[in-house]
Amino acid sequence: MSLVPVIRSAQFVTSAVAPQGYPKEGLPEVAFAGRSNVGKSSLINTLLGRKKLVRTSATPGRTQTLNFFRINDAFIFVDLPGYGYAKVPAHIREQWGPMVEKYLTTRRELAGLVHIMDLRHPPTADDLQLWHWLRSHGLEAVAVLTKADKVPRGRHMAHAQTAARLLGLPSTDIILFSATTREGTETLWARILPWIQQPA
Ligand code: GTP
Ligand code: MG
Repeated sequence: MSLVPVIRSAQFVTSAVAPQGYPKEGLPEVAFAGRSNVGKSSLINTLLGRKKLVRTSATPGRTQTLNFFRINDAFIFVDLPGYGYAKVPAHIREQWGPMVEKYLTTRRELAGLVHIMDLRHPPTADDLQLWHWLRSHGLEAVAVLTKADKVPRGRHMAHAQTAARLLGLPSTDIILFSATTREGTETLWARILPWIQQPA
């Protein structure tokens, strides 16, 4: 039996930079956050089995708005803009904090957050800052280490353990993922489904 839900529809709803622009239907939301270019959009496409629903790019820092996607007319995935990319102009980098913090602290529909990091490297200072901020605000969050296909299998456990220690989690709580091989898809859905099955 597969734990992956059948995706009957998945469509872009809107982009927003402030609460006036958020969707108003009241559907439960799952947000996806991580460093620029870490693979947020690819992970969303992989979860949904859609190749190009969410635009991916070789140029980090392209996504500068909150992007909302309605799935099965039942819940919403929110692709948050990436952080930590030095080449993004300073005035845009300075908007990231307030824009994302506003969403994370005020959005009633937000049921949980998928925090995406890179399995190849230990979590960055920015990653750790966001993770600990999420926890201190009591937000439901799951840590995912993506691009697993780029790390030899024999190294997976050691990399996951380093991340777990820095994040303050048991390593069994961390999900290893790859948009290339789709590994981790079922495990991640198993964490997301309880969030969206409850009323927001
Ligand atoms: P921004 O929106 O710019 O912050 O980037 P993002 O986090 O949405 O990353 P995106 O999904 O656009 O992927 C960035 C690059 O990494 C693209 O070239 C992807 O093809 C590649 N990529 C993403 N996930 C994986 C993965 O699991 N494995 C491999 N090998 N490449 C990946
Ligand atoms: Mg993206």
